[in-house]
Amino acid sequence: MSYEYLDKLKRRLAAEDRQLNLYIRTYGCQQNVSDSERIAGMLKEAGYNYITEPEDADLIIFNTCAVREHAENKVYGHIGNLKHVKEKKPGAIIAIGGCMVHQKQVAEEIKARFPYVDILFSTNAIKELPDLIAERLEKKGIYDTTQTERAEIEEDFPVVREKAYRAFIPIMYGCDNFCTYCIVPYVRGRERSRDPEMIEKEFREAVVAGHREIMLLGQNVNSYGKHLDGDMNFSKLLARLAATEGDYMIRFMTSHPKDASDELFRTIAENPRISRHIHLPVQSGSTKILKAMNRSYTAEQYIELIERARKIIPEVTFSSDIIVGFPGETEEDFEQTIELVKKVRYQSLFTFIYSKRSGTIAAKMDDPTPHKVKTERFARLLRVQDEIASEFDTVYVGNTYRCLVTGVNDNGITEARMDNNAVVELDRAVPENTFANIHITRSEHHRLFGEVRD
Ligand code: 5AD
Ligand code: SF4
Repeated sequence: MSYEYLDKLKRRLAAEDRQLNLYIRTYGCQQNVSDSERIAGMLKEAGYNYITEPEDADLIIFNTCAVREHAENKVYGHIGNLKHVKEKKPGAIIAIGGCMVHQKQVAEEIKARFPYVDILFSTNAIKELPDLIAERLEKKGIYDTTQTERAEIEEDFPVVREKAYRAFIPIMYGCDNFCTYCIVPYVRGRERSRDPEMIEKEFREAVVAGHREIMLLGQNVNSYGKHLDGDMNFSKLLARLAATEGDYMIRFMTSHPKDASDELFRTIAENPRISRHIHLPVQSGSTKILKAMNRSYTAEQYIELIERARKIIPEVTFSSDIIVGFPGETEEDFEQTIELVKKVRYQSLFTFIYSKRSGTIAAKMDDPTPHKVKTERFARLLRVQDEIASEFDTVYVGNTYRCLVTGVNDNGITEARMDNNAVVELDRAVPENTFANIHITRSEHHRLFGEVRD
């Protein structure tokens, strides 16, 4: 591959007297991790040496998240810390991309508070980044490409995969749903689907490269194909990909319940290479709150959907996202969320306290509930889920599952993941990125332990 768009930076880096180091820090969701893998791929190909600590870096990139205020504050803190790095190494270049900088007021704030930031780059046009870096190496100044909307899909990237066992493959970008609490449609732009031929090409390459887990990504994978010509949808894409020969497992994230169809469940049931675990965010168990969130389904419809999926794929497990303390959520609404969680019995849950995002519709809603009440509700929800998760753990003990070995944890213990994403600590070392039959021997405080069986 030639990657002509890298030529300018390649020439510029070749003229340096030494190889320059690149450091990337990624915040937020898997879509961001996937973008960073492409940014790393491009810049490595152009000549940068990819390192894992910022101190020795000549180019520092932050790929940011805007979903909650907490994530943003973390980024501001970390950009603040870069002042010392820049003082020690004035020639270092700092580039900030990701969802945060697509908000105009944030881009302005970064420029005002941190004048040592060199580049703000568009997440929807990362191919422009190499030229921006080359220009900045030539000439000091602030380079900003974040405030232009772009709808074109970029292809043809070298990719550095973060993990050996997993390949992220984006299938669609953006979101048209405008859930009232969510900033994503404003920062990621309108929904657009990648060409199925390009997805299939990258998919086959990932299988040949030996990645055992292939994760298809999109803010709303179930609406894949909506704007493409021809007869294409997510179920058809999945079936087409799962026909590829090889020993691997397909996962996908994230599904919106309003677009999850029986056709999708049947496709999963018919293809053993597709994971039997679905992340299906419900957000709330109160129909009133779901309406205020603009989620387009009622609590009853969501439960019916889960029941239909279980009928079609009996072994399926679910995980979910839930927001606690959305504006106007009463005690009764919250109790309905608890009821729903108990009814559905999620294998795992990602819970968030509502965070006001300026520019969204919910930001203008009355929000009289004190923060303390919200944190209490949050803790109650966690306790309920903890109990459910422990019951799941007890069921696993004594059974054997085919798991994917994901590497060694900080304590030097090899870990593997079950199909439902539960992590198991193994009794002996097994190479990363292999499937192994693991007999679950015990569970303790949400940790599972297992023996490798041949
Ligand atoms: N406040 C809290 N949580 C949010 N999420 C998205 N926007 C917000 C917000 N403003 C959560 C949703 C979504 C997940 C990725 O983040 O649950 O599914
Ligand atoms: Fe945000 Fe809703 Fe789109 Fe998910 S579906 S990215 S929560 S607007």
